[in-house]
Parts: sequence; structure tokens; C-alpha cells
Amino acid sequence: MASDRFIVEPLGEQHNRAAFRCSDHQITNYFRRHAFANLQIRIANAWIIRDRHTDLIVGFYTLSTASTDFGAIPEQFTANLPRYPVPVVLLGRMGVDRRYERQGFGTRLLIDALHCVYWQDVMAVFGMVVDPKAGVREFYTQFGFVPLTNDPQRLFLHLETFMDSRSAPPSL
Ligand SMILES: CC(C)(COP(=O)(O)OP(=O)(O)OC[C@H]1O[C@@H](n2cnc3c(N)ncnc32)[C@H](O)[C@@H]1OP(=O)(O)O)[C@@H](O)C(=O)NCCC(=O)NCCS
Repeated sequence: MASDRFIVEPLGEQHNRAAFRCSDHQITNYFRRHAFANLQIRIANAWIIRDRHTDLIVGFYTLSTASTDFGAIPEQFTANLPRYPVPVVLLGRMGVDRRYERQGFGTRLLIDALHCVYWQDVMAVFGMVVDPKAGVREFYTQFGFVPLTNDPQRLFLHLETFMDSRSAPPSL
């Protein structure tokens, strides 16, 4: 993936949403019809990867604030956590255009989302949650997402654990 060819940027009015088509028609439909409108009314921000050679939108994700019950957080992450609702970010929708599938762009999008959320200083975010489509669960679990205890359909990733795992020195 040539790094200067693909750029991550916020979705804007100038982008050609109609040309985007991923393998899930609901997600395609969401992106074409609702993604821009939803960012305008500030309920979900959308970020894209764009191919500078073709100007096609390679993939996108959306983020919104959310909250999770304390009791839903898996026990291994609850040390020092007060028994209040826990601030999380919702990865609402994500998709990669069919022409670019299985080339690492989904991974790049997810990691970009996690880094953006982790390194911003405006608000505290404990983890990321996602409601994966049928058959896509393994895409998320490979990064360490685990089921919430009260809602196993919803997956959770503890941000600090994820970042620690990325910065760990390679084992000898
Ligand atoms: C899921 C999706 C975003 C993955 O994007 P991608 O760019 O193809 O993913 P990557 O190339 O980064 O995949 C990396 C690894 O994730 C795993 N993976 C990828 N797609 C997967 C899927 N659909 N299900 C399970 N595991 C998957 C594979 O292990 C893959 O490695 P491999 O290609 O060497 O086998 C993309 O397939 C997509 O847009 N699907 C339709 C929309 C959708 O379902 N979105 C998710 C909604 S929750």
C-alpha cells in the first residue's frame, strides 16, 4: 500500500459517495445516503480513505460517543473503575469498497480510528464498542475485541490494553 497514494481524511461534501460499493448493501446504502447527513447533524463523524490515483473512496468508518454499563465491562478491565456508566466510543459503521477488499484497508481504518480516539485529549474514552454484522466478528476479535458481559453481540476493546499491546517490544 503506497502511503502517499492513500489518504485518510474527514468525509466532505466534495467526495463521490455514490461510487462507493462494499459487499454489504446496507452499509453501502448507509454511506451513500446517510453518512454525510449524520455528520452534519453531529450524531456520527465519518472518516474515509481516498485513493488519490482514482479519487475513489476506498473505505470509511463512523464514530459516535456512547456509554456502557459498568456491569457490562469484562472483569479483567474493571480494576479502579468506579461503578458508573463507562464512556466509550461507538464504531457505528465501517466498510471497504469491494475493489479494495482484503488488501489491509479495513485494518488500516480500524487502527486509525483507535489512534484518533486514543490520542485526542478532549474527552476521556475507556474503550471502543462495535455491533458486528453477521460473519464479520472475527475481523474484530483478531484485534482483541471481546463480548460485553450483558450483551455478547456487542464487542468491546479496552483502549489502554490495545495501545500497550502495540507498543510492546518484540519478544526474543
Ligand atoms: C469487514 C471489512 C471492513 C474488512 O475490510 P478489509 O479491508 O477487507 O480487511 P483487511 O484486508 O484489513 O483484513 C485483514 C484480516 O481481517 C480478516 N477479515 C477480513 N475480512 C473479514 C471478514 N469479512 N470476516 C472475518 N474476518 C475478516 C482476515 O483475517 C484478513 O486477513 P486476510 O485477508 O489475510 O485473510 C470489509 O470486508 C467490508 O467492508 N465488509 C462489508 C461491510 C462490513 O461488513 N462491515 C463491517 C460491519 S460491522
